[in-house]
Amino acid sequence: MAEFSLPKNSRIQPGKHFPAPGGAKDVRQFRIYRWSPDDGQNPRIDTYEVDLATCGPMVLDALIKIKNEIDPTLTFRRSCREGICGSCAMNIDGTNTLACTKAIDECGKGDVKIYPLPHMPVVKDLVPDLTHFYAQYASIKPWLRTQSAAPPKERLQSKEDRARLDGLYECILCACCTTSCPSYWWNGERYLGPAILLQAYRWIVDSRDEDTGARLDDLEDPFKLYRCHTIMNCARTCPKGLNPAKAIAEIKKLMVERRT
Ligand code: SF4
Ligand code: SF4
Ligand code: FES
Repeated sequence: MAEFSLPKNSRIQPGKHFPAPGGAKDVRQFRIYRWSPDDGQNPRIDTYEVDLATCGPMVLDALIKIKNEIDPTLTFRRSCREGICGSCAMNIDGTNTLACTKAIDECGKGDVKIYPLPHMPVVKDLVPDLTHFYAQYASIKPWLRTQSAAPPKERLQSKEDRARLDGLYECILCACCTTSCPSYWWNGERYLGPAILLQAYRWIVDSRDEDTGARLDDLEDPFKLYRCHTIMNCARTCPKGLNPAKAIAEIKKLMVERRT
């Protein structure tokens, strides 16, 4: 296998190398970011050789194989393994995506490089700290807000009104978009970022919600909403094929409409 070298000034150190077992015929190298708050060491890149002949097809399959059979200290999040829970979001082969829906075959030639989602504090290895992201989600009050009396059964929607939630309700809050957004990298403390703004729009356009004005008031802020500069990384990276930039543009349009 080719030697792996890091830039001389990198804080990330070359790490351990775990060779494939003898006799493995279809070997692929995975270079994975490792960092632990407990050992006082700089981050490092460990290299694992995985025999693809005995591994499932997805990057998550390789990670699970590494953890189960090669190095139990490797730490990552996963749950549903079918693109629903959003917990296995990470940066694979240079793109934020879900490890469980990214096929190893889809990664470019050569080694598969895996890092945590960028520009987030790291809890350990591939696990980002999403505390602030979830606090921002809570800040948009992501539930139905109503003033009118509750109907005997449920609040109904026409088919057309329900269809307005398509392209929004599918968001699994994986944070791939938000952590690919340059505006969020620099202003993440105050800018809500694409995922949370898409969620905000999801409630703004819900025909059953009766707090649209207050929701727009909450977003009328130079940082919360207006740091989006239509760079479109968010739409390019979303593993569910959603377009947060479009949702943000729709919110801005509503802001203008209510002023005129
Ligand atoms: S919009 Fe897409 S990338 Fe962003 S959090 Fe939702 S599912 Fe993930
Ligand atoms: S379009 Fe807006 S939200 Fe999406 S990546 Fe660009 S600046 Fe960020
Ligand atoms: S494990 Fe649930 S989205 Fe990947």
